[in-house]
Amino acid sequence: MAKAHQSISMFRTYIDAEAYARVKTVLNSGFLSEGNLVKEFENKLSDYLGLINPVAVNSGTSALHLALVLAGIKPGDEVICPAQTFVATASVIVQEKAIPVFADIQYETGNIDPHSLEENITSKTKAIIVVHWGGYPCDMEQIYRIAKKYNIPVIEDAAHALGATYKNRPIGSLSDFTCFSFQAIKHVTTGDGGALCVKDPRLAKMAFVRRWFGIDRGKSTPSILGERKYDITKVGYKYHLNDYSAALGLANIKNFKKRLQNRRAIARCYRQAFKKVPGITLFKEDANRESAYWLFAFHVEKREKFIQKMRQAGISTSVVHLGIDHNSLFGGKRKNLIQQRRFDKTQIHIPIHDGLSEKDVDHIINIIQKGW
Ligand SMILES: Cc1ncc(COP(=O)(O)O)c(C=O)c1O
Repeated sequence: MAKAHQSISMFRTYIDAEAYARVKTVLNSGFLSEGNLVKEFENKLSDYLGLINPVAVNSGTSALHLALVLAGIKPGDEVICPAQTFVATASVIVQEKAIPVFADIQYETGNIDPHSLEENITSKTKAIIVVHWGGYPCDMEQIYRIAKKYNIPVIEDAAHALGATYKNRPIGSLSDFTCFSFQAIKHVTTGDGGALCVKDPRLAKMAFVRRWFGIDRGKSTPSILGERKYDITKVGYKYHLNDYSAALGLANIKNFKKRLQNRRAIARCYRQAFKKVPGITLFKEDANRESAYWLFAFHVEKREKFIQKMRQAGISTSVVHLGIDHNSLFGGKRKNLIQQRRFDKTQIHIPIHDGLSEKDVDHIINIIQKGW
């Protein structure tokens, strides 16, 4: 009897061998809060990955919220976003007492459909959030054309897209605001964490101030009484990253480009192998964009049968997220999201991560090619 293959998880947390020593050094120092390592991590994000003015924060959700605050979103404003995302994208809109307006997506990518985006613009629209589903960049040129026409800022939810490029330019260097996540199962983890990239240097300065209670840490030196001197003029948040998280991030980002190449190589194998498999429709990919492949998705016929077959072979699969509009907080399932509903019914994701061996990839391909 053939030996059963070891089970293959959907995600794998990557922790570099150096991380243990780096984090230990921080713990031993007794200084755990935001310090030099956070700055070093931010410098690494800009020097190594070309991100513009990255401000390190404690989650991708904090980055999204801070972006909305800096974009000046007020109660009653409308913010357009896709429903194909995690609830964080729309929760932060509600947090500001603004209204999430869901635009439809493209069935063939899971990304926001620029036509639907434009159709949903009203005089109350004050920001657009786009999500690079699974790490594949949205149609940014079309999105900027619309944003410019109506003078609306663009916020990229790039939680899945660290290392992705659009026309050879890194995601994180293009829009008014770009938000990354360094949560546990992301490409680069700081445990929990995120970064907000802000194009306008003046607003970037504000982001640094407002991520920590609205206090400018650099300028607020402690007085002889032992407390910093400051005057808060705007609401700030406890959103800063800490040095022990930054130490983890610095260790994990070290060989990120190599790991990303590996993910892309796996994705190429999958795309080649599944091209002609009956019952699978691969997502569309343009040559001018490089996905970060946080996820590998396709559309599948007889999805539950497919999931069962994969499970029997020890391979995890997941829809990751179905359209979030159904949540009561966001007003309940929308009838006008035609492509989103189609997408909900047929999308599936298979493992793509640092823990996959060549044997694992071959096993996944073999099982799928056999049919379900
Ligand atoms: C698309 C998307 N946006 C935002 C977030 C929130 O990121 P975080 O968990 O770092 O707050 C996630 C989390 O996975 C996500 O998938």
